Formats: sequence, C-alpha cells, structure tokens
Amino acid sequence: MDTQLQELTQTETAKPGTSIQIFAPATVANVVCGFDVLGFAVNAPGDEVVMRVTDKPGISISKITGDNGRLPMDPAKNTVSVSVRHYLESIGRTDLGLDIELHKKMPIGSGLGSSSASTVAGLFAAKTLLDDQRDVAQLLPFAMKGEEMACGHGHADNVAPALMGGFVLIRSYEPLDVVRLPHPKDLWCAIVFPDVDVPTREARQIIRNKINMKDAVTQWGNVAGLVSGLFMNDIGLIGRSMKDVLVEPVRSMLIPGFYQMREQAMELGAVSFGISGSGPSVFAFTRDEQTAHNITHKLQQYLTGMKINSNAYVSTINDAGPRVI
Ligand code: HSE
Repeated sequence: MDTQLQELTQTETAKPGTSIQIFAPATVANVVCGFDVLGFAVNAPGDEVVMRVTDKPGISISKITGDNGRLPMDPAKNTVSVSVRHYLESIGRTDLGLDIELHKKMPIGSGLGSSSASTVAGLFAAKTLLDDQRDVAQLLPFAMKGEEMACGHGHADNVAPALMGGFVLIRSYEPLDVVRLPHPKDLWCAIVFPDVDVPTREARQIIRNKINMKDAVTQWGNVAGLVSGLFMNDIGLIGRSMKDVLVEPVRSMLIPGFYQMREQAMELGAVSFGISGSGPSVFAFTRDEQTAHNITHKLQQYLTGMKINSNAYVSTINDAGPRVI
C-alpha cells in the first residue's frame, strides 16, 4: 500500500495555539453480503477530536473521555495518534506539535466502526489544521493503519465511508481502489447495539478461510444485486440482495437472539436486516423513519427481556463524512 504523499511545506494555518474540533461518523461495514468491501456512514453516533497545534514537535494525547479508561493515552499505542503520525511522516511535517483530545461518543467494540470514527476525526483534524487541500480519500492508507492496530487487520470498509461519507465500495485492496456508490435518498437505517462483547479481532478469527463455489456464486450474485439496486434506486432489489451465506451464519452465534431480532424487524417492515460490521450491532434498512423507530423500539424491548442493555440509532445515510464542529 502506498503511504507516501507529496511533501507539504510549512503553512500559515498550523501556528501554535490554533485548534479545531472534528466530528467523524459511525459506519456500517460489510452491509451484509459485502464482507470487507462495502460500508456506509450514518449521521449518528460518531466521535469527536479536538486537536491543537503546540510548539513542541510530536504528538501528545491530553484527554480521552467516554471510554471508561479502555483506550491507551500513550501516543505510540493509540490508533488516532499513530495514524496521524504516519500522515505527518508521509508529508514531511514531523516538525509539527499536535495535541489530541478524544471524546468517544459511541460504544467501543460495537461493530459500528468506533476506532475508525476516532481515527478519521484525528486525520481530518490534522489535514484541516494543515490546510492540506488533497482529496480526503488520500488519507485512507493512514486510517487503515489505525484499523490494523485496533484489530490486527487493515480493512477499509469502516474507514473509507467514515472519511468519504456515503456508501463506499472497496473494489480492490492491492492496489487500493475505492468507489463511492449512489444510494436511494429515502433509505433509512435502524441500528441496535446489544451490549455484549464481540471484539472484531476475535470475530475475524472465527470465520472460515475457505469457501465453496456454490456459496461464492450466491454471494457475488448478492453483492452485484446490492450494488445494482443502489444504482437503480431499487429498494426491493437492495433488500433481497442483502443475504450473506459466508460470514453471518458463523458470526450470528455471537449475537444473542439474532434470528429472532431479524424476524421481528422483517415483520415490522424492514427491507433487510443483518450484522453491522463484525457485530454485535445489528441494523435494518427501512423505507421510512417511523418504521426504523418501530424496529429499534421492538428490538430494544426484546433485548431488555433477555437482560441485555442496548443503544439504538436511527439515521439516513450520511453523505458528508467528517465535519468541523
Ligand atoms: N469488515 C470488517 C469485519 C468490519 O467484518 O471484520 C469490522 O467492523
């Protein structure tokens, strides 16, 4: 992967004391049938980074909130600072001093791209402070380094939509080739996070490494169907293509009541239902906002019945990606 960018010279905007606050969104990776190659961003939740230029070269982390002490403050071990450091090295600006405050506004280990949201917020903050006019997509390799640190694998299906906004296809990893896809404007997303522990690293270890031809045919038919549905604005086609015969049958075992939740969501009018990223969050597409709320309400009730706490979010697809707040 090419992580060398053209060097950026000293700019007026990166004066000590200058600071910026950035929001970056949560993302739903895989989108059921597109393991490691499809993802989209939502409006909420997301993480925030406050970044300040200091007069001492190097990256420091002065504060992390909302993580219950789970994330490392050591800049050599935190995914945000490590990604930002790679970016500064690549553009020849290791002379710069940056201090990071990370405010986690979403659950960690939720399958909603929590580490990606933080990393993207950090990278976008640094890019904005440096007034670096390059396309955000060029930050992708640095964000992927953060993912690699967080879960042992540098997949891009969370970081790419978090950075670029919207619905994104990773057509290829080597070389990296990322395509932004259109989507129906009236597609709503209902997300429920059951508070059970499913670390991405482990959720990746349990999936099969070899697949048979029959399953492969089913899967690529569905991926192509989903992408066609997005282009054609055909919500019916999107819904019937969102089936996963490769990963979901294994990972669903880690999510209590997964198939019961699917049944309830579909009965309430969901277009499709599946695992968000590596789980445990689940999501449903719907044709309207009310149906999305009905689904989150019902699934949360169901989880409460199993004595499992949960969080819920309803959103359209976020086309903007990270933003200054
Ligand atoms: N594609 C990744 C996986 C996403 O399913 O492991 C992790 O959120």
